[in-house]
Amino acid sequence: MVDAIELDPFVCDDVPQEFVRWRDDVASHTAIGPMPSVEWPGSRRYQLSWKIQQHKWRQVQAFCTTLLPLWPKGGEEIVDWCSGKGHLGRTLGALLELPVLGLERQAPLCRVGLSMAERQDVKGRFVTADVLQDDVSPHLNPEQVAVGLHACGVLSHSLLQKAVEHNLQAVAVVPCCHHFVGSDATEYPPLSQAGRELGMPLDDRLLRLSIADEVRSTALERRQRRKELDFRLGFDILVREATGEDRYHSMGNLPLGVGELPFADFCYKMSELLELPLPPRWNPTRTLAAGIERARLARGRALVRSLFRRPLEVWLVVERALFLAEQGWDTQVGVFCDSSLTPRNLMIVGRNLS
Ligand SMILES: C[S@@+](CC[C@H](N)C(=O)[O-])C[C@H]1O[C@@H](n2cnc3c(N)ncnc32)[C@H](O)[C@@H]1O
Repeated sequence: MVDAIELDPFVCDDVPQEFVRWRDDVASHTAIGPMPSVEWPGSRRYQLSWKIQQHKWRQVQAFCTTLLPLWPKGGEEIVDWCSGKGHLGRTLGALLELPVLGLERQAPLCRVGLSMAERQDVKGRFVTADVLQDDVSPHLNPEQVAVGLHACGVLSHSLLQKAVEHNLQAVAVVPCCHHFVGSDATEYPPLSQAGRELGMPLDDRLLRLSIADEVRSTALERRQRRKELDFRLGFDILVREATGEDRYHSMGNLPLGVGELPFADFCYKMSELLELPLPPRWNPTRTLAAGIERARLARGRALVRSLFRRPLEVWLVVERALFLAEQGWDTQVGVFCDSSLTPRNLMIVGRNLS
């Protein structure tokens, strides 16, 4: 049952009343509908998906079909913010027959992006730049529309700020990795006046919770993660007994292959690697059973915690959108694709009304 509720908290009603109440509250506070979209127009241009992983391609298609009906008349160039290889910008460029400017920190990705654009007859230029450190202002102008697919944390802040500062025609962004707040910050830095006034401190732990869903993990990956938790908590029982310290000893990431060992070997290996003692005598079967029970309780408690995931994410996205609205931009927030394609499926679209 815990497995099923982890994937969908609504799947079962045989849960405590409080859980039902919170779950319903969450649903009503996070009900964000789909963005209107058009049919995919590029069916003849099947080659556009060349060398793009399937799930990324489907995200790009969903982004394009959402943005196309909102495309402003004056939008003459597409800026792909933190473009990677520029799949989104290039595809929009091909569909709209417009040039693309990719801004990306990694030079090799810029080179690939440029050659892919050339191959598809899309007029493109890629600028290798760190959008948080370098001055990208000379590349921005009011004839542009800026897009960002999975612009991590404050990278989406910088996109929205630059779009306003340079009076761009429109901007569309799908934020992700909300915990990326830049190297100097320890909490989420609200972008909007409303967000700042609310004074809601969101630290790394809460920001990570906002993206802690497993929708895109395979059943095998989920099984492996469960097993790893059983093993870790079983090992922890032994370490507590051997050290006499009643606290969890963090293990960090497991070295390759250690998670596949039988439980007893796993414990010996981790004890050696972490230089943590084991009791002189212990029973692997009984210890593993106790670890499994602790993991079951921990996962049960995490079900309550995970109810707060989507509200946090909605807050973080709406907060950024409010910044645009405060600048007088026509602003929309909506779901641009099914969460099975990407759990980060909330899009902000802003159109400059000035
Ligand atoms: C999650 S990927 C998204 C790439 C692309 N938009 C996509 O959806 O396929 C984030 C990209 O942002 C780039 N990036 C990260 N920090 C950056 C920065 N400070 N300036 C420019 N690009 C950055 C990374 O190199 C990476 O290509």
